[in-house]
Amino acid sequence: MKLDVILLLCALFALSQQAPSSECECELTTSEKLFPHDKLEALEDSASKCNSDITPQQASELDILLLGLERRLPQLQEDVSILEREDDGQLYGVISLQVVENELVQINQLVARLKSATLGHQRLTANATQQLEKLKAELKELETYDTMQVVNTQQTNQRLKRDLDQCTNGLDPIPKPSQPPRGNCPHGQFLNITGPRVFTAGEPGSHKYGAWGRDPKPEPGKESWYWLVMLTSSNRFAHYVRLYSSLSSLIVGVSKPGNVMIHSANPTTNTIQGPNVVLYGEALYYNCYNQDTVCRFNLTSKTVTNIKLPIGTRFNSKGNFCHLDECYPFTDLDLATDESGVWVIYTTTQDFGNLVLSKVEEDGPLRLGQTWHTSVYKQGVTNTFMACGVLYATRYVNKEVEEIFYSFDTATGEERFNVGIFINKMSPNIQSLNYSPVDQMLHAYCDSFLVSYKVLFEYNR
Ligand SMILES: *[C@@H]1O[C@H](CO)[C@@H](O)[C@H](O)[C@H]1NC(C)=O
Ligand SMILES: *[C@@H]1O[C@H](CO)[C@@H](O)[C@H](O)[C@H]1NC(C)=O
Ligand SMILES: *[C@@H]1O[C@H](CO)[C@@H](O)[C@H](O)[C@H]1NC(C)=O
Repeated sequence: MKLDVILLLCALFALSQQAPSSECECELTTSEKLFPHDKLEALEDSASKCNSDITPQQASELDILLLGLERRLPQLQEDVSILEREDDGQLYGVISLQVVENELVQINQLVARLKSATLGHQRLTANATQQLEKLKAELKELETYDTMQVVNTQQTNQRLKRDLDQCTNGLDPIPKPSQPPRGNCPHGQFLNITGPRVFTAGEPGSHKYGAWGRDPKPEPGKESWYWLVMLTSSNRFAHYVRLYSSLSSLIVGVSKPGNVMIHSANPTTNTIQGPNVVLYGEALYYNCYNQDTVCRFNLTSKTVTNIKLPIGTRFNSKGNFCHLDECYPFTDLDLATDESGVWVIYTTTQDFGNLVLSKVEEDGPLRLGQTWHTSVYKQGVTNTFMACGVLYATRYVNKEVEEIFYSFDTATGEERFNVGIFINKMSPNIQSLNYSPVDQMLHAYCDSFLVSYKVLFEYNR
C-alpha cells in the first residue's frame, strides 16, 4: 500500500514538473492559402519598370527620323537632276557631285540611326510583350487568392453599371447640361507649372497671332493629332485649321493631313476673327467674323453653326485683353476647353468690362449654359484659360514673365487675386493660352512660337 502511495506521489510530482508555464500557444489551422504579398510587390515593380522602359519620346524619335528622311530624299533627287543637267558628256559638275555625295553621307547616317532605333524598338517590344504575358499569368494566379470573390464581384458590378449607363442614355436622348467638376478636381489643386516642354518656331513664314493645341475629344485614331490656326490676314482673320498627325510633325512643320478650309475667301461670313480658338470633338469653336457670336465649324461635315452671346457683349476689338502698353486686337472672345468641355470668356457693357464666363453646351445643338460674372477687369488681363471648372487669368509682368494671378472657381464662386504662379515666356507676348485636359498641358501661342507647359496639380506630379 505504502509503495503505491509513494509511486502515485512520484507520478504527480513528475506531472507537476511538466505542467505548462503561464504562456500559451495557439495553433490556427486554416484551409486558406496565405496571400503572397511579396509576389504582388514584385509584380508592381515589374509593371512600373515596363512603364518606364517604353516612353512616348521613343516613338517620337522614330517619327522625327522618318520625317527627316522624307525631307532629304526629294532634296537628293533635285540635286541629282541638277548634276545630270550639268553633265557635259565627259565631266560631271564637280561641285554638284560633292553636294550629292554629302547628301548621300547624311542620308546614310539617318538610315543607320533609323535602323538602330528600329532594332532597339523591336527588342523592347518583344521584351515588353513577354513581360506583359508573364504579368498577366501572375495576376491570374493572384486572383485565385481572391476567395471572397471581391475582384470578380467588382468586375461584374462594373459591367452592370456600364450596361445600366448605356440603358439610361439610350432612354434619355435629351442632352443634360454638362457639369463642371464640382469643387473636386480629379487632379487636386493647381500648384504650379513647369518650364517650357515644347518650344518650336512652327511653320516657316509664320504669323504673329494664332493658337494651337490638341483636341480633348478626338475621333478614334486621332488621339495624338495636333491643330494649328494662324491668323493669316492682318493678324485678325483666318479661314482654315491646319492638322498634324503627331507632335513631331508639328515640331518639324510638316502638316499632314493638311488644311481644312472653312471658306475659300478670307475674311467672310463665318470665318475666324481673333486668335483665341479651340478644337473640341472634331469641331473648331471661335469668334466669327464681324459678329458677337461663337461659331462652331464641324470639320467632318464642313458646316458652321453659331450661338449669339448676350446683348451688350463687346466685340470687333472693343473688349480686348490688354497690358499697360497695348491691347491685343480682336481678343474679344476667348474660347477654352477643360475636363468638362467648352467655355467662352468675354465681357459686356453691363458688366463694366469685367470678365464674364459662360459654359458652351456643345452636346447636340449649340447653346449657352450657365453664366458667371467676375470682378476682374478684362483690360488688366492678358489671357485666360479654364482647368477643372476654374477660370485662370494672366497678366504681363515683363518680357520674360507672365503671371497667373487670378482664379474664379465655378463650383464655389470663390475668387482669388493672389494665385501667384509664374510663366516663363519664350517671347514677350502670349496671343492665346489654352489648357488641354488630356495631358494637363498649357498650350501658348507666343509671337508665332508654339510653346507648351505642364500644369502641376497635387496628384499628377
Ligand atoms: C528584357 O527584360 C529583362 C528583364 O526581364 C532585362 O533584364 C533585359 O535587359 C531586357 N532587355 C532589353 C533589351 O531591354
Ligand atoms: C514653380 O516652379 C518654378 C520653376 O518651374 C519654381 O521656380 C517655383 O519656385 C515654383 N513655385 C512654387 C510655389 O512651387
Ligand atoms: C459633325 O458632323 C458629323 C457628320 O454630319 C456629325 O456626325 C457630328 O455629330 C457633327 N459634330 C458636331 C460636334 O456637331
